[in-house]
Amino acid sequence: MIDLPMMQFPVEKLINTARAAREKAYAPYSGFSVGAALLTQAGRLYSGCNIENASYGLSICAERVALFKAVSNGEREFAALAVIWDDREYCAPCGACRQVLAEFAPDLAVYMCNDRGDYRVQTVAGLLPEAFQLKGEETVDREASRSGPVRVTEPVER
Ligand code: THU
Repeated sequence: MIDLPMMQFPVEKLINTARAAREKAYAPYSGFSVGAALLTQAGRLYSGCNIENASYGLSICAERVALFKAVSNGEREFAALAVIWDDREYCAPCGACRQVLAEFAPDLAVYMCNDRGDYRVQTVAGLLPEAFQLKGEETVDREASRSGPVRVTEPVER
């Protein structure tokens, strides 16, 4: 195993990326614009926004867009996710997104932001205990999001 140098990544940068992605949201039906930013263990960023549809159930959340972009680009190891919307409450990922995130990264830190960029942080496993998993299937290195070289740094004062 190669020992990669530790990389520090400021959480504000992650949140700013999610905020910029929120600008691209297509949400004419709900009126809720959501943005997400996913940081990989290699230090790359993938963003996503919610994309709604006239057939409501076909709409997709910002988090899944970001994750699917990353995975379709060959990424499997993640360091942190930020999700932001334009409401005073913290934006907590929906159940479907929790399950999809748990497939790759149960230990992923999720920064759930409000419109001001204040946040609460929780792991995917904390958000979805006992996620559905097929017995005996070890398809991805689910520990990589805990043990990788990237560390998200938070300001001392919050
Ligand atoms: N939405 C997200 O993009 N992420 C979440 O975590 C919660 C909900 C979207 C789906 C829909 O377009 C709108 O927000 C309102 O539910």
